[in-house]
Amino acid sequence: MLKLVLLVSLGAANAYVWPSPQLDALEALRWDQDRNGITGLVQPCDFFIFGPANSGRSNAADWIRTAYHDMATHNSTDGTGGMDASIRFTEEQARPEDIGDGFSNSVAVLQAVSTRYISIADTLAVGLILAVENCGGPEIAFRGGRVDAVEPNIPGVPEPQQDLDSHIASFSRQGFTQTEMIGLVACGHTMGGVQHDPFPDIVPELNDPNSTESVVHFDSTHVNFDNNIAIEYIAGTTKNPLVVGFNDTTNSDKRIFGSDGNATMQSFANSPDLFASTCADLLGRMVDTVPAGVQLTDVITPLPVKPAKLQLLFVGDTNTIQFSGEVRLWDLAEGANPIDSVVTVSGGRHTATWYIFDHIATPALAALDAAAGITSIHYTVDNKLEDQDGVGFAVADDVMFSTSSCFTSDTGSEATGIFHIAVRAGVDPTRVYLEQPTRDSVGRPTTSEIGLTPPTQPDSNATYVIWSIQMPLVFTAFTVGAEIDGVKVTRGVLTSMIEFDQCPT
Ligand code: HEM
Ligand SMILES: *[C@@H]1O[C@H](CO)[C@@H](O)[C@H](O)[C@H]1NC(C)=O
Ligand SMILES: *[C@@H]1O[C@H](CO)[C@@H](O)[C@H](O)[C@H]1NC(C)=O
Ligand SMILES: *[C@@H]1O[C@H](CO)[C@@H](O)[C@H](O)[C@H]1NC(C)=O
Ligand SMILES: *[C@@H]1O[C@H](CO)[C@@H](O)[C@H](O)[C@H]1NC(C)=O
Ligand SMILES: *[C@@H]1O[C@H](CO)[C@@H](O)[C@H](O)[C@H]1NC(C)=O
Repeated sequence: MLKLVLLVSLGAANAYVWPSPQLDALEALRWDQDRNGITGLVQPCDFFIFGPANSGRSNAADWIRTAYHDMATHNSTDGTGGMDASIRFTEEQARPEDIGDGFSNSVAVLQAVSTRYISIADTLAVGLILAVENCGGPEIAFRGGRVDAVEPNIPGVPEPQQDLDSHIASFSRQGFTQTEMIGLVACGHTMGGVQHDPFPDIVPELNDPNSTESVVHFDSTHVNFDNNIAIEYIAGTTKNPLVVGFNDTTNSDKRIFGSDGNATMQSFANSPDLFASTCADLLGRMVDTVPAGVQLTDVITPLPVKPAKLQLLFVGDTNTIQFSGEVRLWDLAEGANPIDSVVTVSGGRHTATWYIFDHIATPALAALDAAAGITSIHYTVDNKLEDQDGVGFAVADDVMFSTSSCFTSDTGSEATGIFHIAVRAGVDPTRVYLEQPTRDSVGRPTTSEIGLTPPTQPDSNATYVIWSIQMPLVFTAFTVGAEIDGVKVTRGVLTSMIEFDQCPT
């Protein structure tokens, strides 16, 4: 009995302590589904961004297949390959084992949401998870921290014309047993189908107005993540082109599904719950299959109370700080009473309630005493103190944009902007800079920095001193960066110079 209680409390203590830039970003991509910019692409599940809904194709199916092909190069013996976004390289996409445009389509969309905190491989993992979850499948545990490859992996994705022994060997190399292979293929092939274009020897031209790209689907509910793939296979009614295709050589699903005398497929056909829980487990392991040495985070569960988009602005004239931001309450208990001006949105199967606080709605936040500063915040939700068990939600007031930043717009091509960054007395950074998201030569997200100049005659009495830079007017948004005691910190939300006032003339 005591053991059980202990386990429950350990489980509950799993969430991390906010703030953690990487975990905050990963948590948001996984759970803030109405805001992450990609869930809308698998809602509805027949949505296909590169063609009409009657194409027979879907983003959801492409995202699931893309994650598998990225992982399938893994060699569990030497630890090479795995989920590392090597599938984004055109050299890998040109291989016979990666035929079709589903990979370039998926990468184009998912790579765009990668950031310095979220690798491209993490976005491929989240893409699979959101596709499965939003199309009727189970929730899949998500860990972050995948590392993007800098070159293609060696080949290793199974192909339909290979024999059963090769497939067993291939999945074994990837780290999956024969039974797990049957499960993974069934979990993958509950969505989508085989297209004529890349596989003309398996699927003929259909001339079907409901499948303009001539896709023969693996089951009758190809946009639903369900066990019909197994039910129809066992019933003998399946149209799966890798089971009943006219050329038996490419009937790989038939060989795989039957390889244990149908035991696994029969169990899936009998139980939608078993199918769902097996898929949650196998697909979770699949996206967690990473090259040796990559350290994934703990499973990322939603924080019950989560501040976001905090922005502190130094107002020199009054020696005050303007404070604004948002706070998200997750799955607010039934009967809780959200105040006005909240936004309620869904996060998959959950509900998030967002409160926006700023200096307009809450004038007290317009003029915090800069000398006193701010160290942390806490919230009271329905009379319950939310402060991360006494830790509070730490807020850094060391470095921030100053509202004396400004731009000139009246001189045409001469237009300039001035960024002022306020640095708290005593902080003494070695560098202060503007940060801008960018990409390196192999497409990985990174950050470029534009250095600021320290004040020439610092006012020894000032609460904050101003570092500055003048540059041509740009609309680019920057965050604030500083190197303090050898550690790089990032502050504020992406802000452009035109969000400040025009410079005094
Ligand atoms: C022996 C193993 C496998 C073989 C030979 C195989 C073969 C294929 C083939 C030939 C297609 C058609 C692709 C196209 O027309 O664009 C396909 C589609 C697909 N496969 Fe597999 N597959 C295997 C395992 C898996 C696994 C393990 C998963 C995921 C867990 C998966 C997920 C998918 C999905 C979602 C599609 C549909 C793509 C779409 O409709 O755009 N496959 N597979
Ligand atoms: C996997 O790695 C081991 C150890 O380096 C190697 O012997 C084996 O050939 C590799 N397997 C494949 C299919 O490349
Ligand atoms: C296309 O789909 C619609 C709606 O599901 C259906 O009524 C119609 O019969 C289908 N047409 C063909 C040619 O399969
Ligand atoms: C069946 O498929 C195999 C592998 O793609 C191919 O070599 C063979 O010619 C095909 N047979 C027929 C009858 O199309
Ligand atoms: C598996 O089930 C299918 C459909 O009922 C049947 O055609 C096939 O012979 C079975 N395979 C094995 C190995 O029992
Ligand atoms: C520095 O601050 C002290 C205390 O607020 C004040 O008395 C003094 O005049 C200030 N000195 C300067 C140079 O502003």
